[in-house]
Amino acid sequence: MKFFIDTANLAEIQEAQDMGILDGVTTNPSLMAKEGITGEANVLKHYQAICDIVDGDVSAEVISTDFEGMVKEGLALAALDPKIVVKVPMIKEGVKAIRFFSDQGIKTNCTLVFSAGQALIAAKAGATYVSPFIGRLDDISTDGMDLIESIRVIYDNYGFETEILAASVRHPMHILQCAEIGADVMTGPLSAINALLKHPLTDIGLEKFLADHKKANS
Ligand code: G3P
Repeated sequence: MKFFIDTANLAEIQEAQDMGILDGVTTNPSLMAKEGITGEANVLKHYQAICDIVDGDVSAEVISTDFEGMVKEGLALAALDPKIVVKVPMIKEGVKAIRFFSDQGIKTNCTLVFSAGQALIAAKAGATYVSPFIGRLDDISTDGMDLIESIRVIYDNYGFETEILAASVRHPMHILQCAEIGADVMTGPLSAINALLKHPLTDIGLEKFLADHKKANS
């Protein structure tokens, strides 16, 4: 399973990259705003800075909601760097835009997906990635993991090549459950990735090894 980090924070991206386990980055307008990145030129500059840190795909989301606007924005984003994946919302105009980009060989990430039907449409339009939002489904008392499972079955039934990018991941158990189901990619915060590697017995064991070594060598 590929690990993407869901942030526009350069320090966090660098930290995940330095760990050697990062396969890509996803951003969205809220994450860009959180970093205080405003204005077209600054936004493009920031995406370039992200691309300069990571080796893998970097999702950059369009703001327009009409086909022409999405195409214009998406082409400008894609021209920035070959790592850029144009992130497009799951609306009718977005589906048309995904088909357009797909026909041009430009990678896409269909975002704000909350049902298997939406995921099926995204795959048919040729999306590179589909982003079902697990955490936001959990927030409304619906099991987000059921959606990942259902999309996995549908895509496997027909051999769709669209990759399932489990998004809105909030904690390490989300990551593990996605791995069990067979999501192709997960995107989550650095905290969820860091939490995966922690175990109290590892810390206790290491402390004891180091103490014994010190005793024996003093
Ligand atoms: O990639 C989509 C993701 O950013 C949404 O996460 O935590 O805002 O639901 P969240």
